[in-house]
Amino acid sequence: MMKQAIIGMFFVFFGVWIPTLAQSSVWVTSPNKRVQVTFMISADGTPSYRVHYRNQVVLGKSGLGFALRDGVLKNGFSMAGAVLRNSFDETWKPVWGEVKEIRNHYNEAVFPLKHHSGVLLKVIFRVFDNGLGFRYEFPKEGYRHDIAITDELTTFQLTGDHKAFWIPGDWDSNEHLYATTRVSEIENTWYRETETSIGTMNLHDRQSVQTPVTFKMANGWHMALHEAALIDFPAMQLHVDHRTLKLSTMLAPSPDLVNKAVVKPGFKTPWRVVLLGDQAADLLSSKLILNLNEPSKYEDTSWIRPMKFVGVWWEMHLGKSTWDYAGTQDAGSAQGLNPTGKHGATTENTKRYIDFAAANNIQGVLVEGWNMGWEQWYGQWKDEVFDFTKPYPDYDIKAVTDYARSKGVEIVGHHETSGAVTSYERQMDGAFAYMKQHGIHAVKTGYVGKIIPRGEHHDGQWMVNHYIRAVEAAAKHKVMIDAHEPVRPTGLHRTYPNWMASEAARGNEFNAWSRGNPPEHETILPFTRLLGGPMDYTPGIFDVTFDQYKQEERVHTTVAKQLALYVTLYSPVQMVADLPENYEGNPAFQFIRDVAVDWDDTRILNAEVGDYLTIARKGKNSPNWFIGSITDENARTFAINLDFLEAGKTFTAIIYEDGEGAHWEKKPKVVNIRKMTVKKGEMLALKLAAGGGAAISLMPLN
Ligand code: NOJ
Ligand code: CA
Repeated sequence: MMKQAIIGMFFVFFGVWIPTLAQSSVWVTSPNKRVQVTFMISADGTPSYRVHYRNQVVLGKSGLGFALRDGVLKNGFSMAGAVLRNSFDETWKPVWGEVKEIRNHYNEAVFPLKHHSGVLLKVIFRVFDNGLGFRYEFPKEGYRHDIAITDELTTFQLTGDHKAFWIPGDWDSNEHLYATTRVSEIENTWYRETETSIGTMNLHDRQSVQTPVTFKMANGWHMALHEAALIDFPAMQLHVDHRTLKLSTMLAPSPDLVNKAVVKPGFKTPWRVVLLGDQAADLLSSKLILNLNEPSKYEDTSWIRPMKFVGVWWEMHLGKSTWDYAGTQDAGSAQGLNPTGKHGATTENTKRYIDFAAANNIQGVLVEGWNMGWEQWYGQWKDEVFDFTKPYPDYDIKAVTDYARSKGVEIVGHHETSGAVTSYERQMDGAFAYMKQHGIHAVKTGYVGKIIPRGEHHDGQWMVNHYIRAVEAAAKHKVMIDAHEPVRPTGLHRTYPNWMASEAARGNEFNAWSRGNPPEHETILPFTRLLGGPMDYTPGIFDVTFDQYKQEERVHTTVAKQLALYVTLYSPVQMVADLPENYEGNPAFQFIRDVAVDWDDTRILNAEVGDYLTIARKGKNSPNWFIGSITDENARTFAINLDFLEAGKTFTAIIYEDGEGAHWEKKPKVVNIRKMTVKKGEMLALKLAAGGGAAISLMPLN
């Protein structure tokens, strides 16, 4: 306390006599000059920045700096040397992704600052034609000990009361419904009433949003704010000032609520990212966030393979079976457990899924509820819950994995931690080795509930590091990870390409045990949460009403829209989520059999956040294209231009569309399937029902 007060006085004292610079500013422009950043230092040494897009200010004068345990780094700065400028242009190939090649083209400027307290800070800007990233560096030579950060002072000064697509800033969950309001109306009190599957929420501030948050400006331009390469730092959320329309960084805290982060000298923060585009589609084609992440850490990536997978999973969410073996879990929990003892993950039931996968071009079978611990996993906040190497007695892991192998299918493991993360850390290496021993190369992890034992936050520094530790530990055993309930992604799948997907948003499962996701939900996700990375949404529910199991709940889309989601909600691991029996005999299932999960090319054919989206993608090393088109609660017609097809070839188009009278609520299950031949440049008419969609496969003739 004393120390802080003394340093505080120092600042004031020095501020009086230290020779101050006149306001000075330096421009950094993007390669084609569309985006420009101005870096400024005012007379009292306060650094700030401003952003222009097509010569108009899109972020007014905005703040930079930090509050440290030892003092505030906000003003009293001067330049500590020359601005270092650099240009970069490189094309790289992702291990998997939406496109085969990605161009990383930017101009960079590094501003070395010296604070009058003696410490150093660098601000690094990378300016691209479709946005920018900036980060801070605490140079090694500028600090003698670890740096305790109590607040980040970065702000984003909006220039209008834009239309905003947002979820609340919650330190522990992203599983919220999106709100669409003016910036000045962002107010999240009503979220307290809503449910999340992780059973804990931390809405600390009524006027905060999670990132990515996306804005549509009056002239139609779009902007999204997020971060890239979130490593060793808490997630950034934004506090919204209704009057000034200024957004201020709020970092998720450590459990003591004092420090947000403690970092080493030499630390570089994650990138603060501003995506910019003339229209909504530009946000989707942007690869800026990936470009701000480091290249793959792994030399050999041949073991990393995108896949479709079915799972002993939806049946538990419907209440047809249970995760737990003994059936002792209290009835009525949000997770659909019941005390009847109808264990889902049995050897026999898993074999049924293996047979189904093998027959239908599906590479994986997820098995949840296979290991000891589910009798007491939910809402109990125990330190030791699960054993990740002990299957239940009715699950013969050797028999199951041998059988899968004989059928050319892989088992996908499941590690639900129920928030007992220190316990998971103790078991992790053994758990991955155990998987390897059984030939299991993929695992779905889960972080339901409060983090135990210290009450860390899902979005805090310690957990951010944990997710990466898990991904690195998995890589040692050639295991891919699909994480549920982690911090939202920030493009780290470039660096850690075995981090295939994350949930980190409100998935399809909410339709099984809550009021669910309204038809607009899937038309917002790609423009917000998915900007950071793939989502395991679990599409493909055919029995959208599942009345046999539950009468109150249901999926809020048509079946044709469930098909389209395989294209519009990008992920290299896509679940084929419904019960096998609900696919059997349904001709619409052919689309799921055919659809690819890894892509050479992606075209955004039309897009409006919260309204509709149509995407065409070309399969990896394949001539086949797939189109997904979705709408919100409004019916729509589209004319799709097939000019992306290869010239001189004739394609068979199979169109899976909403049938006669289709409507997500009244008549969701009618799918009309028609076949035609098409060529490059032809137009295709699509009719989407309310809450509906269309899915199309395009394969060259012969
Ligand atoms: C929540 C996950 O999102 C869900 O997919 C999973 O089945 C349950 N937790 C149990 O792990
Ligand atoms: Ca979840």
